[in-house]
Amino acid sequence: MPIHYTSSTQTFHLQSKQVSYIFRVLQNGQLGHLYYGKKLTHREDYSHLHRIEARSNTAAVYEGNLDFSLETIRQEFPSYGTTDFREPAFQVEQPDGSRITQFEFMDYAISAGKPKLEGLPAVYTEKDKEASTLIIRLHDDRLNMDIHLSYTIFEKTGVITRSSSFTNRGSDTVKLSKGMSLSVDMPDYDYEMVHLSGAWARERHVKTRQLEEGIQQIGSTRGISSAQHNPFFALKRPHTTEHTGEVFGFSLVYSGNFKAQVEVDHFGTSRAMIGLNDFDFSWQLQEGETFQTPEAVMVYSSSGMNGLSHAFHDLFSKRLVRGKWRDKERPVLINNWEGTYFNFTEDKIVEMAEQAKECGIELFVLDDGWFGKRDDDTTSLGDWSADERKLPNGVKGLADKVKAAGMDFGLWFEPEMISKESELYKAHPDWLLQAEGRRSSHGRNQFVLDFSRKEVVDHMYNQIADVLKGAPISYIKWDMNRPLTEIMSSGYPAERQQEIAHRYVLGVYDLYERLTSDFPDVLFESCASGGCRFDPGMLYYAPQTWTSDNTDAIERLKIQYGTSFLYPIKTMGAHVSDVPNHQVHRITSLETRARVSFFGNFGYELDITKEKDLSVLKDQVSFYKKHRTVLQEGRFYRLESPFEGDGNVTSWMVVDEHQQQAVAARYQVLEKPNSGLPRFYFKGLLEDVLYQVEGSDESFYGSELMHAGLPLQHKYTWKKQGDYQTTLLVLNAIK
Ligand code: DGJ
Repeated sequence: MPIHYTSSTQTFHLQSKQVSYIFRVLQNGQLGHLYYGKKLTHREDYSHLHRIEARSNTAAVYEGNLDFSLETIRQEFPSYGTTDFREPAFQVEQPDGSRITQFEFMDYAISAGKPKLEGLPAVYTEKDKEASTLIIRLHDDRLNMDIHLSYTIFEKTGVITRSSSFTNRGSDTVKLSKGMSLSVDMPDYDYEMVHLSGAWARERHVKTRQLEEGIQQIGSTRGISSAQHNPFFALKRPHTTEHTGEVFGFSLVYSGNFKAQVEVDHFGTSRAMIGLNDFDFSWQLQEGETFQTPEAVMVYSSSGMNGLSHAFHDLFSKRLVRGKWRDKERPVLINNWEGTYFNFTEDKIVEMAEQAKECGIELFVLDDGWFGKRDDDTTSLGDWSADERKLPNGVKGLADKVKAAGMDFGLWFEPEMISKESELYKAHPDWLLQAEGRRSSHGRNQFVLDFSRKEVVDHMYNQIADVLKGAPISYIKWDMNRPLTEIMSSGYPAERQQEIAHRYVLGVYDLYERLTSDFPDVLFESCASGGCRFDPGMLYYAPQTWTSDNTDAIERLKIQYGTSFLYPIKTMGAHVSDVPNHQVHRITSLETRARVSFFGNFGYELDITKEKDLSVLKDQVSFYKKHRTVLQEGRFYRLESPFEGDGNVTSWMVVDEHQQQAVAARYQVLEKPNSGLPRFYFKGLLEDVLYQVEGSDESFYGSELMHAGLPLQHKYTWKKQGDYQTTLLVLNAIK
């Protein structure tokens, strides 16, 4: 069992092959944090780690014990209101107006495996011995309320998942105004906070800042996890690189408003926490009711940012993504959006599908514009039946023709939205999120359906299920194109309105759960104006996500590099699109566009009927298929960052599980005249194995390729002059 409890010192030690996480019960019954980091040899008492800082005259102390102040103690799930002045992990408002609580350790349970989180996405185990779970119960007597803190530690990797739940056992209704998923007090602040921030078309850029006294915070108030900040941050030592050094990563398995922050206090302690955003949040708890927070994931790596990413990639691809698509090869797809936008006919789509089939593409995805009377973005959301002007034979007629052309068929939906110009709005004008007597804001001319109400979710389920039952559809792109505003629901009383943003997300999860369980063969791809809701919560239901609406190869280097900090490249939709690029108007070669998209979930998004030379596309698709296993299942290493130096070079690679094959790429944004010969330093190879560079007759030992590097002679780069050049290298071990 990797979870030890020593009763004499009331100490818990979660210990895996690499990691230790230790805390104990304090003299006031609360929990004190002792250690998180590289594995420690187990002992019964670690109280020496509980360094109690010198107390200043201004500190508040417990009545009756002048030596005890929470201000100087690292805590496990801190409260506010007595002697700690940092931000707490939770807050409960009581009928008499008090927010003072006293939750004390009561009991604990340790079990093999990991229990499910009802109604919420979460990491899972397949075999009990993979992980152990500790559930601690804290109790406040006066309130008659319990907090359960749940910890699961994965034995091999040391990944720890955490969540908390709040149960009101008393007869008075209380209000939970904050409930974090995790909090951990680190002993110093010599860390850089790394996070993934951006905007639409510029998602998940890597940001790094030194911690300083005070609060450094990221989060979302948009109702979706957002492109502005991903629900993730890492604390790395300043000298930590992609390949070496310590780093702690914190991720939230959630798709709505979140908050992630680090508070550095005057003793240099760093309090890291992540969970639901407490801004504009509260939750009424009546007698017997429980509130469960989303799950958070903590990863510790002593082998740099790549080590951190490897742990997240393994966890997310094998213990978060579910269903038959988890282990299946993902198809090469073509999507018609940038090819036709709203302007298509059945004949046009069939023609595109036939050409795509000739190139070896496997799945045709019909994007927005196939339903209602949707010729632009002003109408029809909510009316999920075929527009017979465009599809005279309905969805089934088209899907049958695409199937007959030899391809699978996929369809776009935006289930959470409604257009005012729609049959649905005529029938249910009150189904919007809206505040009575106030103007409703729209985004992209559309309004948000009130997914906190079961009847709305039920209705959407029925409409989408009917379409799925009526045609051979093997893929759904689930889009979501605007943030939430006027977050009010006519389905709930006044005192519950601050619950709606979270209830909305629960409604989305409910619809996803029902559709994915009832249509288990369908591959779901989530999307929110590209990558505005790329988070682990979505991955639990949809095994892949459209990474960004920005399909420009050069912009994608940064987007895909940042996204890979946390998310496996197999989960990132990456399509070759037309030039000049529709978002930034840049012109790059078809070769460069494909070589960036290979390191994602490969596909196309252009009018293939306009392509003059299909042989190039055929070669690209066949290259991808030949190397699909290593590209989708291999170990991904980031090598050179577009966020460092002048950002001119990005490189990365994948290597298969048995280290027999690697595919690597180097991208140079601008040509540098008369510059030195770059070297390519591989990672993850076997030192003493000879690898042949595909396309040449030369071979090198893994040790040479990793430590001396491969000088990129022209014969490897097949160098052409000019900007946006790429080098693609394939290594095969010589048997
Ligand atoms: C936004 C998505 O990100 C695009 O890929 C496309 O599906 C459009 N919506 C369609 O409206």
